[in-house]
Amino acid sequence: MPFPLAVIFDMDGVLVDTYRAHYQSWLEMAQSAGLNFTEEDFARTFGRTSREIIAKFWGQDLSDEDIAELDAKKEAAFRRIIQDNIPVMPGAVELLQTLHDSSFRLAVGSSGPPENVDLVLDGLRIRELFGAVVTGMDVTRGKPDPQVFQIAAQRLGVAAWRCAVVEDAPLGIAAAHGAGMAAIGIASTGRTREQLADADLVVDSPAELSPEAVRRLVAPAKTSLGAKTIVYPTPVLVVGTYDPEGRPNIMTAAWGGICCSVPPSVNVSLRKATYSYHSIVHRKAFTVSIPSESQVREADYCGIASGRKEDKFARLGLTAVCSDLVDAPYVQEFPLVLECRLTHTAELGLHTLFAGEIMDVKIDEDVLGPNRLPDLSKLRPLVFAPELRQYFGIGAAVGKAFSIGKT
Ligand SMILES: Cc1cc2nc3c(=O)[nH]c(=O)nc-3n(C[C@H](O)[C@H](O)[C@H](O)COP(=O)(O)O)c2cc1C
Repeated sequence: MPFPLAVIFDMDGVLVDTYRAHYQSWLEMAQSAGLNFTEEDFARTFGRTSREIIAKFWGQDLSDEDIAELDAKKEAAFRRIIQDNIPVMPGAVELLQTLHDSSFRLAVGSSGPPENVDLVLDGLRIRELFGAVVTGMDVTRGKPDPQVFQIAAQRLGVAAWRCAVVEDAPLGIAAAHGAGMAAIGIASTGRTREQLADADLVVDSPAELSPEAVRRLVAPAKTSLGAKTIVYPTPVLVVGTYDPEGRPNIMTAAWGGICCSVPPSVNVSLRKATYSYHSIVHRKAFTVSIPSESQVREADYCGIASGRKEDKFARLGLTAVCSDLVDAPYVQEFPLVLECRLTHTAELGLHTLFAGEIMDVKIDEDVLGPNRLPDLSKLRPLVFAPELRQYFGIGAAVGKAFSIGKT
């Protein structure tokens, strides 16, 4: 059973073309209060709740009761205008039906009052197609705040990144993106395609949408890149060795990483063409030094020049420290070091995989956090993107491991 996908529909300007009816009802209200309310003013209110609009045009000093009364009057006028002829958007009902038939979960995420939403859902006989209906009454913050869509996704039981939002307002598109959802813009009355340019897809009417178009946004098919050595993040490890004459050498290796917990082990894969390969075979030991972002030039050079021709320590002004645990040197200036005893060798093809038991990890005091563990924001290890031939830094923490998955 595949994970469910969802589409959350704004109502006004998406399911129903209520531009004229809303404008007319605001105009009636404004005129009876002697206020000037232009069509441009109206256009700027899109996506906001009526309560927010009243506070903006009628004044901040109105009491909550006054606002509620004006709000109710305006919305009643609106419903009177549309009730006998609900201005359904072309193709909207058919789209809802085909999405529903294609197992999409559907929701309404509208800033409008529940009475308006009820009138439209019941008037068009589409209520049973929706698994959740969220209105302006359910939210405390209007769009562009993502709250309305977050509540809808939660009620549908669908993860945000599997949801697409259909919207007619830039504020709604911002809200969809704020919720981590795909945004589809509908350029209905009063909206140009340019205004909706931030959407992931813009159409002129619901009739242009299909389950396939939505699926392409929320569950896109993968593109094949072929059999390539791509895994992210790829580390930047600097492997330290002594050659048979006892000369220290360092080379950069991106093919490597932790490979066992007990005994703690790390592996690096080296081509036979490297000088370091022969040193590991000879000495049965190696170190892995992890450079910091500020040492990217040194790390790169260790991957360009060969110890066969040059003393890379001397050339780079780095200090080779002889490990007291294994027969290999490490880089004093690099903040984190692993000292390894060779335990396994596997011929894989072009590369030979060397696995080593980690005998000790040494770290500079100044990259330790308060818990005496490495602080990545201080250590700043490098990430290599092989296909791009580019080094990157790492970003901020995004969640607690063995914990966030339970939420
Ligand atoms: C970012 C980067 C990653 C590299 N990763 C590896 C690797 O995993 N295995 C390998 O054999 N060579 C790798 N190389 C190439 C070696 O570091 C390079 O051939 C180096 O000159 C070998 O040094 P040596 O001859 O002193 O041992 C890498 C180079 C760079 C720049």
